Amino acid sequence: PKIVFVRPEGEAREVEAAEGSSAMRAALTGGVEGITADCGGEASCATCHVFVDEQWLVQVGEPGLDEDDMLEFTACTRQPNSRLSCQIRMRDELDGLVLNLPESQ
Ligand code: FES
Repeated sequence: PKIVFVRPEGEAREVEAAEGSSAMRAALTGGVEGITADCGGEASCATCHVFVDEQWLVQVGEPGLDEDDMLEFTACTRQPNSRLSCQIRMRDELDGLVLNLPESQ
């Protein structure tokens, strides 16, 4: 499935994600700037923060409990559509997913 990452200034970059892997992993593999992912995907650093585009909120779903706690520690203030991209598992239904990058991680 494909993911489109949109930078704060509007530049969009499309990357291919492996089915079952995380959106964070696809960003790193695809050379997307703006995802730091210090903890490597353990939901314990909050440096893979993204804002899920409105039209995808239902499909992506709610954050898990650990993720929800960690979302209180993002560099950019948490919004209702905030998620940790390491906790978004990619699957075919999410093909075309649009994730907006914060100003900082
Ligand atoms: Fe650390 Fe997602 S990579 S919380």
